[in-house]
Amino acid sequence: MCGIVGFIGNEEAAPILLEGLSRLEYRGYDSAGIAVYGPEDGLKVVKAKGRLQVLSDIVSGGKTIHGTLGLGHTRWATHGEPSDINSHPHVSQDGRIAVVHNGIIENYVEIKEFLQSRGVHFASQTDTEVVAQLLEYYYSKGEHTPEALLDAVVKVLHRIDGAYALGILSADCPDRLIAVRKDSPLILGYGKNFRFLASDVTAVIKYTREVSYLDDGDIAVLTADGVQVYDSLLQPVAKEHSHVDWEISAAEKGGYEHFMAKEIMEQPKAFRDTVFPRIQAGRVVLDDLRIAPDDLEDMDKLYIIACGSSYHVGMAAKYTLEKILRKPVEVTLASEFRYCDPIVTEKTLALVISQSGETIDTLAAMREAKRLGARVLSIVNVVGSTIARESDDVLYTWAGPEIAVATTKAYSTQLAVVYLIGLYFADLMGTIEPAEYKAVVAELLLIPTKIEAILNNRKDIQYFASIYFNHPSVFFIGRNIDYAVGLEGSLKLKEISYIHSEGYAAGELKHGTISLIEPGTLVVALASYGKLFEKTMSNMVEVKSRGADVLGVTVESRRKDIDKTADHSIAIPDTHPMLLPSLEVVPMQLFAYYVALQRGCDIDKPRNLAKSVTVE
Ligand code: AGP
Repeated sequence: MCGIVGFIGNEEAAPILLEGLSRLEYRGYDSAGIAVYGPEDGLKVVKAKGRLQVLSDIVSGGKTIHGTLGLGHTRWATHGEPSDINSHPHVSQDGRIAVVHNGIIENYVEIKEFLQSRGVHFASQTDTEVVAQLLEYYYSKGEHTPEALLDAVVKVLHRIDGAYALGILSADCPDRLIAVRKDSPLILGYGKNFRFLASDVTAVIKYTREVSYLDDGDIAVLTADGVQVYDSLLQPVAKEHSHVDWEISAAEKGGYEHFMAKEIMEQPKAFRDTVFPRIQAGRVVLDDLRIAPDDLEDMDKLYIIACGSSYHVGMAAKYTLEKILRKPVEVTLASEFRYCDPIVTEKTLALVISQSGETIDTLAAMREAKRLGARVLSIVNVVGSTIARESDDVLYTWAGPEIAVATTKAYSTQLAVVYLIGLYFADLMGTIEPAEYKAVVAELLLIPTKIEAILNNRKDIQYFASIYFNHPSVFFIGRNIDYAVGLEGSLKLKEISYIHSEGYAAGELKHGTISLIEPGTLVVALASYGKLFEKTMSNMVEVKSRGADVLGVTVESRRKDIDKTADHSIAIPDTHPMLLPSLEVVPMQLFAYYVALQRGCDIDKPRNLAKSVTVE
């Protein structure tokens, strides 16, 4: 996912842009660039394929490019290969307008052909360049005034289709920046004598904690000491200012080799921060939820909608919520939900789960669910994100900023909020025995300590990674909630170590896939769910007899049993069955991390991946 930073103020822009882009590296990118306007040198654009350091070296950390107005961009290629020329910012043919973009211009081909038929020469293969060229096409027809520039922007927005967050600057209007938002996030940052636009707050928090969040259709004009936001009809729009209250250190490695390691280790704290304020005197308190008991009684279905690891949280949630709510729970991939003509009524509660709150598939699915009449409750980590702001109710996971592309603490805290929702709803509907409610709440408060116990034994998992890091194929098998955690364990391994892996229902293996099990195949057998322990043990015997290496995962109280079959085993502390995924996922995260470390992979920024996928 691309990263955007824009600055206008009374300081040299280039170093500030580079600093901001460095804070956005976690989003995933393959090239970077900056455009700076200064009265002496005019509009200068420097961009390069590769890491941000390549760009920074070219401009000596920003010292060789002067001006107090600028745009910066890290590009995650969609149209046009990663290359210097395809990097952003893109510039109009006359060299006077620079544009950075996050998203996709879906009708760029027709616009490009239209402009080429009028003699416009394109330098790149990208969709974004049509925005810069189309701006010049409209702007060049009249006076080069700020009003004419804004008018040209509006004309462009009426012409392009797709998802876009745009940063725009013009050498003819060097006292302003323009920001436009549709389906891709953009925030504004406010300082004493400066203003920012950026993809998210991590890029600006070093300079200001006062921000506002643009909504779809917003057009913002930023000057060094002011901002005016308009809607698509150029009517002024007032934007609420928010204060960002987390520390910048939260977005730094803090001595860890990788953000992922730091965030794995932060899970006990993240869990406490998310859960403990919401348990008072032994009761789950979700005062910010505006769902009445009658709404719950009438609920015909709980539809969980998410992508990736958030979807895996939904898979674990299904087992838990169906058990204690006795209501149908359906879990679906957001990218599927959008196009499957889903059965949704006014009695459907859509539970939308997203760390970033900007995942385009999840956002679009949420909007579809709302259009069909569902009430939306979202679980989101990024405060003020689009999904959070468009939900009927949102419960934030207080995990703090999650920088590593591979999610860990966000997964854990999402799961924690699912438990809270389940307990709260079950209590409202009277579908949970008071004694069970009390036992689960009490055990929930012990989970952080039990996660710490697992983390304290992480060397064992590092040892297993050193044995298994070269296996060409890995299966994660389990039943019920073990299966759900196995899906997440498999994704973690795939996305950071690039080893092919599958999360598989243990009972399903015999229906075909077991043909793939052969000597050298690693099978991670998750068998923490006591009721199905023996069943999963049988599946372990099945794969062992076909030559697989088996790494077993279970609770302390069943370790002796699993060691009768497994080649090696990982034991997690015993806990209430409903809460097992919160503990079982931690060894999965650690295993993936240590395997990727052993393989020398780029753990925080895996190839081809972005932290939040804001394009379809
Ligand atoms: C998980 O490690 C991946 N980074 C990815 O699957 C992620 O969970 C997915 O893209 C959903 O992101 P979201 O939670 O921000 O919506």
